[in-house]
Amino acid sequence: MNREKLEILLPVLIINFIKRSIYKFRLLNYFMYDYRQYSKHSFGFTRKPTYENLRAKITLHYHSIEKGLSNINVRLGFGEKALKNLVHVLEEYKNCEFPKDDKRYLSAINILISYVDLHEKNNYDVPWIKGKLTEQLNYLGENQTKKMTKNHMPYREFTKKEIIESVNKPFDEFLKHRVSVRDYSTEEVDVNQINDAIEMAIRTPSVCNRQPWKVYVLKNYDTIQKASGVQKGLNGERRTNVRNLLIVTTDISYFANDKERNEPFIDGGLFSMTLLYALHYKGLAACSLNNSMSNKDFKEVKRIVNIRSSERLIMFISVGKYSDKLIVPTSTRDSLDDFVEYR
Ligand SMILES: Cc1cc2nc3c(=O)[nH]c(=O)nc-3n(C[C@H](O)[C@H](O)[C@H](O)COP(=O)(O)O)c2cc1C
Repeated sequence: MNREKLEILLPVLIINFIKRSIYKFRLLNYFMYDYRQYSKHSFGFTRKPTYENLRAKITLHYHSIEKGLSNINVRLGFGEKALKNLVHVLEEYKNCEFPKDDKRYLSAINILISYVDLHEKNNYDVPWIKGKLTEQLNYLGENQTKKMTKNHMPYREFTKKEIIESVNKPFDEFLKHRVSVRDYSTEEVDVNQINDAIEMAIRTPSVCNRQPWKVYVLKNYDTIQKASGVQKGLNGERRTNVRNLLIVTTDISYFANDKERNEPFIDGGLFSMTLLYALHYKGLAACSLNNSMSNKDFKEVKRIVNIRSSERLIMFISVGKYSDKLIVPTSTRDSLDDFVEYR
């Protein structure tokens, strides 16, 4: 390189070096901010739980029981650990004297009622949980209890026909029939159907149209079992029955600086949602599976599936064909009052 060129290039190199150093410093600051905010507010860290912390914990634990109740091969006496966790958090909620008419709190009590009902109908004794439920019902009082025991259903039932017909209905009906399906028929899924759904998901918006996503379509049974075994989003038979698994990732190489650090998750989340709707539209049953894994597990999944180090795992999606009849957890939703604020 001659001197003239070096003189022109050097300032650029220096400027780039300074820029990169500033970005790195700011990135560290942002990560520290994320660290402080997360460790201050998320329920795994708070010493004195807030109302929101307890609502979240209640939902987490009752949903686990709800999933068990919607299992076609329900095992009596299931969910011992989840029940203990749920009872503990309901007691915390009661002791904090948070609102008795909270939808999530009441949903949890409803799930306990369903759990006890199921076991009583099958002559299976569950005295401990029955006692804990009675304590909660006494706390709620007679009026509230009367209202509650009327219409509770821990799961919803659909026929395959209903679901398939819903895809051409108005959007609100379409939305109501897109449900997480964890039990599939043994019928093979045609990979072209999955490809068609992925093709539809291409229309997902992304920051500056960067489209940072990738989709891994796993068809090999051993790879699926190994990857989902690390991920642990489905248990027992539900996991061993999975024949098609999608893994959505986004590539960090598509993003610029410190301020974009969350975009891989936002774009990846949006893409995954469109993909879920597209799978539903194509008549395929699917369930999103959590990505709450340790770094060690992330690395292990990447090794099993051969995913690049620059990619973030966003979502696992199990896919299958609908059975003629399906049972899914009710998964009660909040009301607008619970989360919309006008300013
Ligand atoms: C990011 C994400 C992670 C999820 N992880 C799991 C999981 O690991 N196992 C599971 O059975 N369901 C999982 N679900 C499904 C939720 O439980 C389900 O979406 C929720 O209860 C609402 O029910 P619905 O999808 O039927 O409307 C997940 C959903 C999302 C969006």
